Amino acid sequence: MVPDLLLEVQDLRVHFPVYGGLLSRRIGEVRAVDGISFRLRRGETFGLVGESGCGKTTVGKAVLNLVRPASGSVFFTPPGGEPVDLASLTRSGMRPLRAHIQMIFQDPYSSLNPRLSVSEIMSEPLRIHFPAMTPAERAERVAWLLGKVGLPPEAAAGCPHEFSGGQRQRIGIARALATRPSLIIADEPVSALDVSIQAQVLNLLQDLQEEFGLTTLFIAHDLSVVEHVCDRIAVMYLGSIVETGPAAEVFRAPLHPYTRALLSAIPRPSPGTPRRERILLTGEVPSALNQPSGCGFRTRCPIARPACAESRPALAERAPGHSAACPYST
Ligand SMILES: Nc1ncnc2c1ncn2[C@@H]1O[C@H](COP(=O)(O)OP(=O)(O)OP(=O)(O)O)[C@@H](O)[C@H]1O
Ligand SMILES: [Mg+2]
Repeated sequence: MVPDLLLEVQDLRVHFPVYGGLLSRRIGEVRAVDGISFRLRRGETFGLVGESGCGKTTVGKAVLNLVRPASGSVFFTPPGGEPVDLASLTRSGMRPLRAHIQMIFQDPYSSLNPRLSVSEIMSEPLRIHFPAMTPAERAERVAWLLGKVGLPPEAAAGCPHEFSGGQRQRIGIARALATRPSLIIADEPVSALDVSIQAQVLNLLQDLQEEFGLTTLFIAHDLSVVEHVCDRIAVMYLGSIVETGPAAEVFRAPLHPYTRALLSAIPRPSPGTPRRERILLTGEVPSALNQPSGCGFRTRCPIARPACAESRPALAERAPGHSAACPYST
């Protein structure tokens, strides 16, 4: 039993049916999440990284019970309570727990209802989860939350289109914080923003994390973003975790050939950091509908050998807390 465990995902699988042909028959399934496990301790930021389509958002949705897993469990420990397997709950069983887990979305343009005022957008979760609150108390809480994300109280009267991208993401963050959640799922929270404001929003998230005692599942496709934000990370490829460990360790001594390739693509501007040899990935990401046998990465791997086609390598611990699913990398 790990102390302070907030979330434990065990062997999670999420499959989506694929329909095709003239009669739109079910012709197969996408194994979007193909057996992944990880744990989040209270207060930490855990990064889930990988290329587009590898299953990151689906993991977040499965944690929120927005998609139904084919198998696996998602144990969440609510404040003062015992761990509950969210994957086993119905929508209505999930409702009382929803206040504790909130999501921040990638696109601050489409995640805020354009027809509502900021005050209405932020009041909605309060109305649902704190029905006893009076309108005056809600207005007070909205103004307080806006202050926490660096917006003036007058912002409450505005509509989403009146704000810049960065300001809208601040509104999305304030809405997520309204119910005082313990777990935040931040799905690429800055990738739709101008580079110049990404750092501001990341700094804000880090400050709020400390102040509110949040635990964060931070989803990103960009490794350079997670390096400074996350305590530990997991690198995903085709629905599986291929490497996981403390963020600093994974950056310093990556083990899996896929992680090495991803890292080699990041420019290292600061003097003194050793230059990494650029590893070019050849070939396309295989379709999740039609995965290669054995190791999912073998079709693009610079060190693949025939045995890689036979069985999928399991994650094996190579240094304390640092594991990779490749028996051949040295
Ligand atoms: N509702 C759905 N129905 C069918 N297939 C889906 C559905 N949602 C996701 N998928 C498929 O599952 C796989 C994983 O998708 P997911 O959105 O989780 O990836 P991602 O890592 O978040 O990608 P991105 O970086 O583009 O956001 C993809 O192949 C995607 O096409
Ligand atoms: Mg996504």
